[in-house]
Amino acid sequence: MALTFALRDADTADIDTPLLGVLLPTGSELPTDLRALDERLGGALTRALTRGDFRGARDETLHFDGAASGAGRVLLVGLGTPTEPSASLRRGASLLARQAHKMGVGTAAVVAPGTDGEAIESIAVGLSMGAWEYIDLKTPPPEAERKKPLARVTIVAEDGRAAKDSLARGEAIAAGYDVARRLAQMPGNLCTPDLLAKTATDIGRRHRLKVTVLGRREMERQKMGSFLCVAQGTPQDPKLVTMEYRKGKRGAAPIVLVGKGLCFDTGGISIKPADRMEFMKFDMCGAAGVLGAMEAIARLRLKVNVIGMFGATTNMPSGIAVKPGDVVISHLGKSIEIINTDAEGRLVLADLLSYARRFKPAAVIDAATLTGACVIALGHTATGVLGTDQPLIDEVLSAAKKAAEPGWQLPLWDDYKELIKSDVADIKNTGGRAGGTITAAMFLREFAEEYPWVHLDIAGTAYSETDLVAIPRGPTG
Ligand code: BES
Ligand code: MN
Ligand code: ZN
Repeated sequence: MALTFALRDADTADIDTPLLGVLLPTGSELPTDLRALDERLGGALTRALTRGDFRGARDETLHFDGAASGAGRVLLVGLGTPTEPSASLRRGASLLARQAHKMGVGTAAVVAPGTDGEAIESIAVGLSMGAWEYIDLKTPPPEAERKKPLARVTIVAEDGRAAKDSLARGEAIAAGYDVARRLAQMPGNLCTPDLLAKTATDIGRRHRLKVTVLGRREMERQKMGSFLCVAQGTPQDPKLVTMEYRKGKRGAAPIVLVGKGLCFDTGGISIKPADRMEFMKFDMCGAAGVLGAMEAIARLRLKVNVIGMFGATTNMPSGIAVKPGDVVISHLGKSIEIINTDAEGRLVLADLLSYARRFKPAAVIDAATLTGACVIALGHTATGVLGTDQPLIDEVLSAAKKAAEPGWQLPLWDDYKELIKSDVADIKNTGGRAGGTITAAMFLREFAEEYPWVHLDIAGTAYSETDLVAIPRGPTG
């Protein structure tokens, strides 16, 4: 159930709510907006701050019982010393929502004294991130043990035009994250190429986007030998989906977003070890990200032309699966020697990047859970960023930082080209263990020569096996 929001311009002392969350940075004195509330609590807030019981450190929380009227409980949440205000507000709001969820209060209010209108967007996104859960496949607990999920939050702020717009932006972005996380968390037997394609047509119908779905037949006609060889071992119909959102200048070159949509990656004939293979249901997170982005962009009514595009299939071993040593001809015409059938994402993306040329893109940005090497290099904190156009890379890096999803650039120098030369074909699909994220991107570059291009390796950041505080364990969206 999506979280709903209201804006309310009132003194925090007068807000009738089971839980009032107060987001405070390090070293705050009692903000003036909280004076009346503090009085009602017999000065408890002031005492906590002056004694140092609460210092506003990042992720610090302090719980107070409320007074007879107004807020039933007050929870102070520390923001730390924010270097990126939007990111720390998201984190604090997420933590608040998670606490509210655990308490089972059902509704809450939140205030972040001294922040501007822009902050409402970050707070709404953070609250949604924290309240999100995927419980469709669990039997609900008995009525008596059931806690109310957090369903509605009042943001205490001036209720003007700017605040309303900021909240609407937050809700749109949160809806995008919701789409991406839900699809990511669904198991591979439910989240199939068919379902991803259906999700695209649903989004398209709701927002009047032109959605096109190619299946195996159509891709054969397009001579997509690279994508198709990955889908060779599965009976499921692979899908190449494009979603066209055109609210920018008529005829202006679009931005094309490309996602890897492996609904499950067993590795194929080069099969993966059994241990932790279940995480490979997340190998469609690039596609989920594109679907989420299209949902958010459409709700934001951005004045841009954007094409969302993803390739969905399942990498399976079988008697007719592609095997190491096979050579396939890609949509672009380049021949590819398959060294390892587990390096399948780049094979899908190669044909998508080549297909993207038909849209005459101003820029192409792809997202893919592409290499285990990226997890080794950057851990679960930063997305690997590589590309052919430095100004575009810089734009992506700065947007990522603002969204609390930092990226880190890796080189894409010609020197690495040697590693993916083949004895029998134009190029081979792996370059060995060394520099695995870079050689994967070098492979993609062969198919992305005609436009400015940025590649995001999200293998480490698409989902987390541990609790990240701002985001619980699981898909990050
Ligand atoms: N989907 C995997 C990459 C991956 C690994 C994502 C771990 C998230 C966590 C990808 O298809 C893959 O298997 N890559 C291989 C490439 C290798 C065979 C060159 C890898 O990283 O081992
Ligand atoms: Mn693989
Ligand atoms: Zn994969």
